[in-house]
Amino acid sequence: MTIKEKIEQLRAELHRHNHNYYLLSAPKISDREYDRLLKELQELEEQYPEYMDENSPTMRVGSDLNKNFTQVPHKYPMLSLGNTYSESEVTDFYERVRKALNEDFEICCEIKYDGTSISLTYVDGKLVRAVTRGDGEKGDDVTDNVKTIKTIPLVLHGTDYPQEFEIRGEILMPWEVFEELNREKEAREEALFANPRNAASGTLKLQNSSVVASRKLDAYLYYLLGEELPTDGHFENLQAAQNWGFKISEAVRKCKTLQEVFDFISYWDVERKNLPVASDGIVLKVNSLRQQKTLGYTAKSPRWAIAYKFQAEQALTRLNEVTFQVGRTGAVTPVANLDPVQLSGTVVKRASLHNADIIEGLDLYIGDMVYVEKGGEIIPKITGVDVKSRFMIGEKVKFITNCPECGSKLVRYEGEAAHYCPNDTDCPPQIKGKIEHFISRKAMNIDGMGPETVDLFYRLGLVSSPADLYTLTTDQIKGLERMGEKSAENIVAGIQASKDVPFERVIFALGIRFVGETVAKKIARSFASIEELEQATVETLIQVEEIGEKIAQSIVNYFSEEKNIQLVSRLKEAGLQFTRSEEHEQVSDTLKGLSIVISGVFTHHSRDEYKEMIEKNGGKNVGSISAKTSFILAGDNMGPSKLEKAKKLGIRIVSEEEFLKQIL
Ligand code: IVH
Repeated sequence: MTIKEKIEQLRAELHRHNHNYYLLSAPKISDREYDRLLKELQELEEQYPEYMDENSPTMRVGSDLNKNFTQVPHKYPMLSLGNTYSESEVTDFYERVRKALNEDFEICCEIKYDGTSISLTYVDGKLVRAVTRGDGEKGDDVTDNVKTIKTIPLVLHGTDYPQEFEIRGEILMPWEVFEELNREKEAREEALFANPRNAASGTLKLQNSSVVASRKLDAYLYYLLGEELPTDGHFENLQAAQNWGFKISEAVRKCKTLQEVFDFISYWDVERKNLPVASDGIVLKVNSLRQQKTLGYTAKSPRWAIAYKFQAEQALTRLNEVTFQVGRTGAVTPVANLDPVQLSGTVVKRASLHNADIIEGLDLYIGDMVYVEKGGEIIPKITGVDVKSRFMIGEKVKFITNCPECGSKLVRYEGEAAHYCPNDTDCPPQIKGKIEHFISRKAMNIDGMGPETVDLFYRLGLVSSPADLYTLTTDQIKGLERMGEKSAENIVAGIQASKDVPFERVIFALGIRFVGETVAKKIARSFASIEELEQATVETLIQVEEIGEKIAQSIVNYFSEEKNIQLVSRLKEAGLQFTRSEEHEQVSDTLKGLSIVISGVFTHHSRDEYKEMIEKNGGKNVGSISAKTSFILAGDNMGPSKLEKAKKLGIRIVSEEEFLKQIL
């Protein structure tokens, strides 16, 4: 590989991880790995300036901008911190500061909280704006959501605060809340949040601030900015801010020597496990603002501060076997089976190996001693091999070429990291997975059945397609493993009841690739029957909101296969809803293209009824007010912050009566 190719490869890789982290909130590598790649790229770019590129990942700090929020420029850019991972790098920082200042200085040590950063602006003691970091220059205005966080003061205490200032900090989801939220998500069969950081940033970007309120976020503030701050000391200013009502961490210490800094680091490296929120390191800041000014900034971070990142908790254990699991979609996941080992309070026996590229990169052999990390994620992962201890090892771990369940040759689609088993008609886990999806709560919601029943029916040859469910009889079921008469009756009744499930959920239940709940709803709104959908072309499908080329193509492919047409026709015969019911039909175009916010308490109809009216008349009900809002359908007692925002943006407020007149 030439240097130029290497640089391009690193850039592509970093761009991808950036997207995973900031937009999908689903990082695939650790921060440490990311930093290592970025550093490698930085060094190459410095050495070979002829390959510099304006859009290189080294040119920015990352972005969490989201198109649904209004963007606001930051008065002072929101920079990130340089990261260090060893005591010697901390010493280097300390020495650099000492040389540059050439006078006494103090270092304020703080916990590095692992959440999502926020910038709050206060004018005359009142919170006026809360903005995310965004790309560092401008961020998303998430004021309404932030106002739901109880530990953020809306109005300050006392009188001795500056007339206008900014305070920055970290929004966090406490471990307890995070675990509870994931338990609920699991019960609803929704994708889980990987860690509290993603949960916090995902929550902050929700459109509906009442859901944000229910998520119980917390916040620590750690940085004051403004023209007239109380003192020259960062630590002292934070103490003052605490008196104005801000939540400031108790875990801070002003250090006069490097030894005191190291003592703080080693104390909190252990003690942080008892904190109610996630932390991933220590931040060191030169305490005097005057000295901070002298030290100044690089393009990306201050020279007066640095982060020391804790080593993620690691364990070393033996790799015994790699197995491959096949999911409903045919995606094959490699799983490492390990000698059980204690890691961050739990025993770990299995770890994810993600995909073929990760396996290749690790250069694994069966019998290898491997490093396992949890690093805030729920599923542990293998991050390295102890090559020194390699002795009499077994075979090299290779990704399989054929499906472990049915033997079909695996395929890898362009642009995807996963391998798939293409045999979706006869591969057992795929068939069972499709039936499990079909009966699940958000699809046909068949009571009395779960994965074990599906497995039982499949093993006994009773059911090998969702359509087979509709011919099952109580007599066939009762007397099977753990099945009494009552359970058998329940299952059959549940199956019969599912015949009333509306069209949109039947579409979702079919399990067409990329057609989730929301897309299924949009389809049902645009196509009155399954026949119309079967006839649709890519061109007609992409006219539908939220359907792009990829989904459209997947739908067309689905209906081009004989076996799917047959499944649909058997389900139709069984009496499932394959046409849109009147209730969901659009009645007019009166509100076409309009985004409408509903707020307040109503007398003539319920909120849900208004929502339905908006949709039936072609409009869109949105959760929060932005410049794009067409009007607000307002009842009594509309919240003062909403009212103020509407006024500021000049958005029309429409009463119940006016609204009803408009659409009737
Ligand atoms: S100070 C210019 N203090 O770490 C320096 N940051 O990589 C401003 N963070 O974006 C940041 N705890 O989200 C500072 N005690 C702390 C922190 C902290 C967590 C986050 C923050 C920032 C990132 C920098």
